[in-house]
Amino acid sequence: MPEKLPFEFILSPDPHAACAALRGKGPVHPVDFPPGMGAFLVLDYEHGRPALNDPRLAKSVSWVPEPFRARFHADNRILAGNMLDSDPPDHTRLRRLVSKAFTPRRIEALRPRVQKIADDLVDAMLPRGGADLLDDFAFPLPITVICELLGVPVEDQDAFRDWSGTLVGPALNEEQARHRGEVNLAVGDYFTAIIAERRAAPRDDLVSALVLARDDDELLDDQELLAGLTLLLIAGHETTVNLIGNGMLALLTAPEQLKLLRERPELLPSAVEEFLRHDGPVERATFRFATEDLELAGVHIPKGSVVHILLGAVNRDPEVFPCPDVLDITRADNRHVAFGHGIHFCLGAPLARLEASIAFGTLLERLPGIELDCDPAEIRWNLSGSLIRGLRTLPVRF
Ligand code: HEM
Repeated sequence: MPEKLPFEFILSPDPHAACAALRGKGPVHPVDFPPGMGAFLVLDYEHGRPALNDPRLAKSVSWVPEPFRARFHADNRILAGNMLDSDPPDHTRLRRLVSKAFTPRRIEALRPRVQKIADDLVDAMLPRGGADLLDDFAFPLPITVICELLGVPVEDQDAFRDWSGTLVGPALNEEQARHRGEVNLAVGDYFTAIIAERRAAPRDDLVSALVLARDDDELLDDQELLAGLTLLLIAGHETTVNLIGNGMLALLTAPEQLKLLRERPELLPSAVEEFLRHDGPVERATFRFATEDLELAGVHIPKGSVVHILLGAVNRDPEVFPCPDVLDITRADNRHVAFGHGIHFCLGAPLARLEASIAFGTLLERLPGIELDCDPAEIRWNLSGSLIRGLRTLPVRF
């Protein structure tokens, strides 16, 4: 049994290097995160990918022993019962309710609108000759799209940003736990009001469709409705923001790849897949709970343990991806797991791919001279240990 890693491992400022060093010692390691609870990290492709779809590793918090279960509940009250935290048959029922809205055909129909949003954002940045690409482009693009799909006012985006940053970050001290509690209440109040409005006057949006499924067909209950809307709002932007941010940083610091993509725009889809693999936004969100005693790579995992499948580490496994740290937009056979694998495979993947290809395509075409406006060493990543990997700012000039 490898030695248990301290919980600080999860907070490493350079997770890729830390995980590569650890993977060299073995693919599965015990870790003290959440502190005091039995938990394990999975770092390689051979064990990580199947673990994402292993029925012995479930998502429902009901598998967690007390007192940790109560803590999970307190931290995530508003999200309790969302599809990503459910197992079949609940998961199957909840996913079916919204999957119609995310089919590749429905999403492709959004292309002109997404392109218009991207163009408007570039129009606003252009006269300034420089921008923070996160605040001025990567954030407003996906948040506008998901707000329009759900039918919530895009003017509330500053609140959404705080809420989602809080709910995907770890609550490591009392102050953070207190703020998290407030956010849980605020999100609940917010969606309760929107639900009441749509109940009185339905529109052609996802909130109305889910309210109808609740009231007319009784396909979900009140808490599942709140949790589902919260999940879609968070998952629908927090990830894509950082795919655009992390991908642009990778491109701007690999000038030969930037040049290649400009010369051969037909490589855009393959470049997006490589951005997802190389520095995908989902860092630690894919934890599971062991429903029975089991073994992974020879390591005993007791029932009730948390198993963190670290997608960033799986996607840089040198056994599957040659020269894994190198950004290669022509990479062949790129079987990354940035969108997960199995029954919880990202529902929003077609939307994320559409948004990303429009975002990168528009930035490269309309800002031919775009470059970093700071020393790459000054770039700061968001609070480590978050479920999401992303930058704080991305200063550029053009
Ligand atoms: C699930 C990644 C964008 C909605 C997931 C999972 C991953 C992921 C890894 C599976 C988690 C697990 O197995 O534990 C990403 C990435 C995105 C992205 C990298 C962008 C680059 C989106 C968007 C939406 C979305 C735009 C739109 C609403 C969801 C939902 C689930 C999910 C609802 C839960 C699916 C289920 O439990 O069946 N995503 N996502 N995601 N994602 Fe995304």
